[in-house]
Amino acid sequence: KKGSYDHFMQKEIHEQPHSLTTTMRGRLKDGGVLLGGLKEHLKTIRRSRRVVFIGCGTSYNAALAARTFLEELSGIPVTMEVASDLLDRQGPIYRDDTAVFVSQSGETADTLLALDYALENGALCVGITNTVGSSLSRKTHCGIHINAGCEIGVASTKAYTSQIVVMAMMALAIGSDQISSQARREAIISGLSSLPRYASEVLKLDSEMKELASSLIDSESLLVFGRGYNYATALEGALKVKEVALMHSEGMLAGEMKHGPLALVDENLPIIVIATRDACFSKQKSVIQQLLSRKGRLIVMCSKGDASVVSPSGSCRLIEVPEVADCLQPVINIIPLQLLAYHLTVLRGFNVDQPRNLAKSVTTQ
Ligand code: UD1
Ligand code: F6R
Repeated sequence: KKGSYDHFMQKEIHEQPHSLTTTMRGRLKDGGVLLGGLKEHLKTIRRSRRVVFIGCGTSYNAALAARTFLEELSGIPVTMEVASDLLDRQGPIYRDDTAVFVSQSGETADTLLALDYALENGALCVGITNTVGSSLSRKTHCGIHINAGCEIGVASTKAYTSQIVVMAMMALAIGSDQISSQARREAIISGLSSLPRYASEVLKLDSEMKELASSLIDSESLLVFGRGYNYATALEGALKVKEVALMHSEGMLAGEMKHGPLALVDENLPIIVIATRDACFSKQKSVIQQLLSRKGRLIVMCSKGDASVVSPSGSCRLIEVPEVADCLQPVINIIPLQLLAYHLTVLRGFNVDQPRNLAKSVTTQ
């Protein structure tokens, strides 16, 4: 079933141009978005006081990537909850909340318990899952199947990008009654239809990522700095590296750098800085300058053509990715980091598809 690939994780990373296509199939119509599973509930969602995203691990990170554009396109405040933490705190969930549960498997115990809790509290519960017939799909009031195809590797890859795309379509559908953002919505819809093509393009970085991985095999740690739309990319890239390559890695909010992490910077610790084009670009450029002035060992992810802008002295290693609509950039930016985690794992000699101590579906608390 792996075909010409050595591992499921590798196959699933390379499948993304296709999985993104199936996620969008039949859902982008006449310049608008049609989500069969949501259309009866859109009015209720628009009237809600707040959207609460709930998930674990990679699914939480996907929701975090979607938070900004959902707020922008819907005008509804969005809060984030790690499922276990919501339960630990017994945090407030109200009748006029829309609670959106994100889970690839649809069987994660923490997420399902948080769903029971939100149902008891009277919220509208929406599911986003890859698994038709899963507990999440059955117990939510409504939802969207991401249709990414079966994901076998324990590390979630293609589900992550499809989840973000589904949440982008959800944001477009919720915001579709707002005239003022029509042009913005049209730009995002056209960006969505070109995503599979850009995913194929960014996958060509495979051998470059293998080479980068070979320069990192003996590192003890890897930091990833992101902000704005790509804070989630930093968290998710670091999660991939720690869970499969068994290397310590942390995703960090670049805006927090001076409030502690800067103390770690020296010429040995590798740091990936995500600095693709968006409203935060100039802030990320100054982060790069500050890290370089402390002799940081930098790997900068930038938009194609920006090499001399982000690294005028040529002292940073670069990962150049194609530029897409700002809010969709996380879908493209995570792919080289997935490749990096994959190659790092193989080169370090660890089990890619069954990482130590982990299970695909965490059905116990
Ligand atoms: C549906 C069909 C799809 C068909 C399409 C044609 C299914 C599973 N999907 O897709 O095969 O090609 O119509 O128009 O038969 N739901 C939840 N919770 C979740 C996920 C989904 O309640 O977590 C519900 C939805 O509200 C909806 C149903 O499940 O009622 C199917 O959802 P989805 O597959 O996303 O709907 P369509 O894209 O319309
Ligand atoms: C990371 C990973 C886990 C899952 C988490 C939630 O690669 O696979 O962090 O994302 O266990 O799983 P689902 O999405 O099935 O609820």
